[in-house]
Amino acid sequence: MPKYQEPINLAHLQPKNRIIRSATHSFLPDEQGYMTEAEYSMYEKLAECGVGTIISGHCCVRQGGRANLEQVNIWGDGFADQFTRAADICHAGGALFLPQLSHAGPRAIDTEDLADVSQRDLKKGRHARELTPEEIKAIEGSFIAAAQRLQKAGVDGVQLHGAHSYLLSRFLDPTFNQRTDSYGNSEENRFRILEEIITGIRAACGGDFPIALKINIDSKYEDPELYSRSLRFYLTRCQALGLEFVELSGVDFINQPKDATLYYLEQAAALKKEFPQLPLALVGGVRSLQDIEKALAEGLDLVSLSRGLIADPDLLIKLQIGGEKSRCVSCSRCFVLPHLHPGIRCVWAWKEVKAQQKQQDRKGENS
Ligand SMILES: Cc1cc2nc3c(=O)[nH]c(=O)nc-3n(C[C@H](O)[C@H](O)[C@H](O)COP(=O)(O)O)c2cc1C
Repeated sequence: MPKYQEPINLAHLQPKNRIIRSATHSFLPDEQGYMTEAEYSMYEKLAECGVGTIISGHCCVRQGGRANLEQVNIWGDGFADQFTRAADICHAGGALFLPQLSHAGPRAIDTEDLADVSQRDLKKGRHARELTPEEIKAIEGSFIAAAQRLQKAGVDGVQLHGAHSYLLSRFLDPTFNQRTDSYGNSEENRFRILEEIITGIRAACGGDFPIALKINIDSKYEDPELYSRSLRFYLTRCQALGLEFVELSGVDFINQPKDATLYYLEQAAALKKEFPQLPLALVGGVRSLQDIEKALAEGLDLVSLSRGLIADPDLLIKLQIGGEKSRCVSCSRCFVLPHLHPGIRCVWAWKEVKAQQKQQDRKGENS
């Protein structure tokens, strides 16, 4: 049996295999913050096709913190029921379901009053002011309330989005965090917002409610060593706080060469050696059975895929019957296509739709 098919015992969860569908904004929800039938079908397909753990697209914990129009919200009780249905669908297919919680920070689309960890000039002549300590506490409260709602809804745990320049990652990264108060200026202070959210969720949901974290393995900070040292501090805290697993991503996954695979593996494998007790997942450029098995052979506990499962939601079935890899060519059109052709998330799906249309046109001509 390939290693990825082996079950794994985490602190509270027992995924049936080592494969995670990494959080992926699907562009399928409606603009009011609700999942659509297409979103539920996507979960059904991923679960039926053998993914062990499904992480939702990033869900907004607070009004004014949405990054996308068609993003699922969880900032009020009225949004909770949809997660019960999504969890039930995943469970029916044998998968675990963990919603990802996020706040867009200065990337928020619904407000002119943009705020960041530290004040900052943004693109297009815009500016973000620095969040006040009171606002930080309120944001922490929103993450905690969202987790509580989701626990009641019956999900298996939550993942905090601490990567890719969303708000939590900006606190962790000195490129963005230039605060001089208790939320900046040292690794302990930069981690404080996460520490307070995690302990807050523990207090509200109990010590056995699984909390995972997605975090950047690197930074664009002028002194990469500083981030690297800080990351080790953050992971030490994650271990002490008993996080279910930490998923390692990076700031630049989108700009990697199209044929690059496993670009964070070397750093991730080194971290695994330093943190043998902390379950670590690797995401980024996993496309083939060989990639999956290589990451696991290097000691990673779990392997996450996003674009490979957009191109081929049934990838694991294909691998089981002798396929070697996903059709994904890392073109990243999955960020653009859904806006041009709603419901279409991959160039391969678009090609199939075009081929079907051509066939129907031909039939029409012949009839
Ligand atoms: C269309 C799209 C949407 C994404 N949405 C999210 C998201 O909501 N949350 C998140 O943490 N990462 C998100 N990501 C990043 C992926 O989870 C993953 O980290 C990244 O794509 C690298 O993995 P891959 O090479 O398997 O695609 C998204 C990626 C894509 C392509």
